[in-house]
Amino acid sequence: MISSQNNPIGFFDSGVGGTSIWKEVHQLLPNEHTIYLADSKNAPYGEKTKEEIIQFSIKNTELLLNKNAKIIVVACNTATTNAIAFLREKYTVPFIGIEPAIKPAGLVTKTKKIGILATQGTLNSELFEKTSATIDVSIKILEQVGEGLVNLIEEGEINSEEMNMLLKKYLNPMMKENIDALVLGCTHYPYLIPQIKKIIGNSVEIIDSGSAVAKQTKNILDNFGLLNTTVKHKTTHQFYTNKNANVLSKLLNNRKLEIIEKDF
Ligand code: DGL
Repeated sequence: MISSQNNPIGFFDSGVGGTSIWKEVHQLLPNEHTIYLADSKNAPYGEKTKEEIIQFSIKNTELLLNKNAKIIVVACNTATTNAIAFLREKYTVPFIGIEPAIKPAGLVTKTKKIGILATQGTLNSELFEKTSATIDVSIKILEQVGEGLVNLIEEGEINSEEMNMLLKKYLNPMMKENIDALVLGCTHYPYLIPQIKKIIGNSVEIIDSGSAVAKQTKNILDNFGLLNTTVKHKTTHQFYTNKNANVLSKLLNNRKLEIIEKDF
């Protein structure tokens, strides 16, 4: 099948977090139809092996291709850092990935200390190691695995005391080291920004990659002649989840979107 401009943009994530990316893309490209897969049944990917993450990514990609996705946004740092090279090799559809924004953080830091909160799978990946090596050697990167955070978000426990305690445990040591930039290296974490700000205050810049991913998606669609240029048409947005739809619906601000509970 030849991808046409009217085909949807496909997204997948280990769960609900990639909706933070979907929102950025939808805001920049309101003319596009979209399909989103929340593989919440298998979350968190960050604790899985590279081989398992590749297998989940293949399954998600095949589902999106069966639904005629013209481009696939891997809305998950863990899947990008572990599987995108494999996906690009195996499929001809263009893939957009998301990686922790440590390069931009390296450019803004004055204290020469940046913190990164990400999953074990992302921090252990070769791609992350490669990107970190490109940062000015005088900059110290304080890595922290956000163990438990994805689980709590998937359960809808964003504002719980447990979340607050975990965030304090992970962020206070970085604050003691005087970081002035914090990279959110997981697409679930932008939903924690209000709680994070209460802990680290306003002097630390919080950096995530959402808007960069949206711009990149636009550029690549444009390069491939795949941007949907139809003016003022009604777009469709389907969200598939293989777990409970309530959390997904809440994070999408209960907008009138099609949310489908289905095993995959
Ligand atoms: N949203 C995924 C990411 O960006 C969460 C990973 C996980 O499921 O552990 O890394």
